[in-house]
Amino acid sequence: MMIARLKNANKIYETQAGKFTALANCNLELYEGELLLIIGPSGSGKTTLLSLLGCLINPTEGTLEIDGKNVDDLPDKEMAKVRLDTIGFVFQQFNLLAPLTAAENVAFPLKMRNMKTAEIKQKTEEALKKVNISEHKHKLPKQLSGGQQQRVAIARALVTDPKIILCDEPTASLDKHSLEIVMKELKELAEGGKAVAVVTHDPRLMEYADRVIEVENGIVNEVNKQTIN
Ligand SMILES: Nc1ncnc2c1ncn2[C@@H]1O[C@H](COP(=O)(O)OP(=O)(O)OP(=O)(O)O)[C@@H](O)[C@H]1O
Ligand SMILES: [Mg+2]
Repeated sequence: MMIARLKNANKIYETQAGKFTALANCNLELYEGELLLIIGPSGSGKTTLLSLLGCLINPTEGTLEIDGKNVDDLPDKEMAKVRLDTIGFVFQQFNLLAPLTAAENVAFPLKMRNMKTAEIKQKTEEALKKVNISEHKHKLPKQLSGGQQQRVAIARALVTDPKIILCDEPTASLDKHSLEIVMKELKELAEGGKAVAVVTHDPRLMEYADRVIEVENGIVNEVNKQTIN
């Protein structure tokens, strides 16, 4: 099932130096049940692409469909609701709140929705369990390893049960062992039916991908995995 589709999407940034096309005429479909890898050199437009898919920015031209609905022309408030309901984000810097424990960080998006305490607790436990981090739930971020922090960040992204999980360099600060654990978790989420898109510089992530696209100078191309491996 297709969950997101960018059609003829451009992103043009206005700067003091003039207009800059960060993404040109991009057509991309994202499907439930797949792990899509997005590769490409620094400055090529990967984060821009992920931000478009995540409804964090609007395309300058073109359209974005999420779950069959056009969202690019929605008012900000409704776009924010689509984002909250449908999308989970995982970033390179884990973006955990330092004074909160692992469990409190995971519970945070649910608290913002005024959910009942018992339900928050149950959903938080489930998410922590899914990424095998329950035993560390009472620790603060600084008491966790990089890989553990990233698993908490993944638990926080999936606690709202979003259909789409978007990750920007989620393994960049991790050693080989932690990288494997994090990628296995993301792969399992895809196999469980989520649409997972991962931006990376790291060729080691290729083996986890169902599909690979490359962004170069703002142009998106599908990559044949076999020719890279
Ligand atoms: N808010 C902005 N205003 C102006 N230009 C921007 C803005 N955001 C990004 N750009 C430019 O758009 C281009 C693409 O940026 P983007 O962050 O998408 O690259 P990236 O592929 O994610 O790079 P990296 O691998 O280094 O993270 C870059 O040349 C960048 O300078
Ligand atoms: Mg980037």
